[in-house]
Amino acid sequence: MAQDTLDASVKATDPTAGKSKVELRNVSKSYGDEWEQQRVIDRLNVEIKPGELTVIVGPSGCGKSTLVNLIAGFEFPDSGEILLDDKPVTGPARDRMVVFQETALIPWQTTYQNIVFGPKLRGDLRGKALQQEADRLLAKVGLSEFKHKYPLQLSGGMQRRAELARALINNPRIMIMDEPFRGLDAMSRGLMQEFFLRLFEENRRTNLFVTSEIDEAIFLADRIVVLSNRPAQVRTVIEVNLPRPRDYKMLASAEAYAIKREAMAILHEEAMKSFKAGSGADFAEAYGKDGGGGH
Ligand SMILES: Nc1ncnc2c1ncn2[C@@H]1O[C@H](COP(=O)(O)OP(=O)(O)OP(=O)(O)O)[C@@H](O)[C@H]1O
Ligand SMILES: [Mg+2]
Repeated sequence: MAQDTLDASVKATDPTAGKSKVELRNVSKSYGDEWEQQRVIDRLNVEIKPGELTVIVGPSGCGKSTLVNLIAGFEFPDSGEILLDDKPVTGPARDRMVVFQETALIPWQTTYQNIVFGPKLRGDLRGKALQQEADRLLAKVGLSEFKHKYPLQLSGGMQRRAELARALINNPRIMIMDEPFRGLDAMSRGLMQEFFLRLFEENRRTNLFVTSEIDEAIFLADRIVVLSNRPAQVRTVIEVNLPRPRDYKMLASAEAYAIKREAMAILHEEAMKSFKAGSGADFAEAYGKDGGGGH
């Protein structure tokens, strides 16, 4: 494939690398057989703009990871289209790298071995060039001293950083992050968000970041796409015009607070819908009486 003949060391200096756009047009996806179909995504339209950090927020179980799998090419839509730089996505490729919540590091390989695994397997970056690129990325994610350690010897935050380096060595056209910091303690999560922001602000690679945390969304995003309850549809798109480089204090600004109010109101409404549809109906009824807990 022409894509695979691209030399990663050449791509690394290409100023347009990582400046891709993704468009989802009327994308629908259902699971199940013809007897019991469950529509997870319903005529979804989303635009991920070049060099922007687009954050998707939505209630638990609304179809966020399904959306990620579709863009990554692990799954295919039933109808509609997904375009990467105007060309339909036909399957997984290293131009779209996904970092998941669950660690995907290979446990019996060191940090260094994990990072060089992909390029080595494909043979598109070798020898000294590969070594130099891996060392550069290890330094960038602050793991130089841990290059010979195994994943289990790393903290949760370090594992996520190793995964970032492992994705970045492929110099993808878009980075896709599916709740990558979920499960980290609050302090590590905050630090990872700041670390990730610095990395993004450095070269503004097109990014799709999925989260269920509204503060995380506001802190990171250029634009927040708020999804409905399942089947996922776009409820609203919020532009976040906080200046960059960002710092945590900006979350206390009037603008951040206004965004939070707007997004929380929608998310609360959508979460209640899923509660009512499920076993939480009694709770939802009781809780809904006071107007939804006063967010
Ligand atoms: N491969 C699959 N086969 C059948 N059903 C699936 C499959 N993948 C997802 N689903 C269903 O689709 C719905 C949405 O799941 P998905 O994981 O996309 O939601 P999510 O928004 O990422 O949830 P969470 O907030 O828990 O991460 C769920 O009801 C799930 O059971
Ligand atoms: Mg998910």
